[in-house]
Amino acid sequence: MTKREVHFTLNGRSVTYEVEPRTTLLRALRHHGVTSVKRGCEEGECGTCTVLLDGVPVKSCTVLALEVEGRSVLTAEGLVGKDGKLHPVQQAFVEEGGIQCGFCTPGMVLTTYALLKKNPDPSEDEIRLALAGNLCRCTGYAGIFRSVKRAAELLKDQA
Ligand code: FES
Ligand code: FES
Repeated sequence: MTKREVHFTLNGRSVTYEVEPRTTLLRALRHHGVTSVKRGCEEGECGTCTVLLDGVPVKSCTVLALEVEGRSVLTAEGLVGKDGKLHPVQQAFVEEGGIQCGFCTPGMVLTTYALLKKNPDPSEDEIRLALAGNLCRCTGYAGIFRSVKRAAELLKDQA
């Protein structure tokens, strides 16, 4: 199939990918080495492929790569500081045991990041609702909910 170019901003850098029209953003990112974006169900159900598209969490398996022309994509790699320091949201997941196998973690972290940008002090219900599209088969979620609360504290301290 004929390939076409798509130009977009990935983690603050302009990139150009050559993709087939049927290629999903998930597959294009992984093909180019962005491996934090996990391939789970590829049916929009599990949330492991979550990225932020213009700041909004989307499941990258449900977006065609060509649809992100001129737009901004953030993945978990883009949250890490230039000095290699974890973002406070990532740090909170480490501190609070929000990670076991880690497969869901990049998506959880990005959804949390987006939530806390919009709502720096979410209630338990708001956290559950925000993370409803991100499934975890390992943790039982308690550590993840603690991580979101800890992330809110760390971000407040940083402000
Ligand atoms: Fe995209 Fe599961 S891989 S939602
Ligand atoms: Fe394994 Fe969430 S830590 S799926």
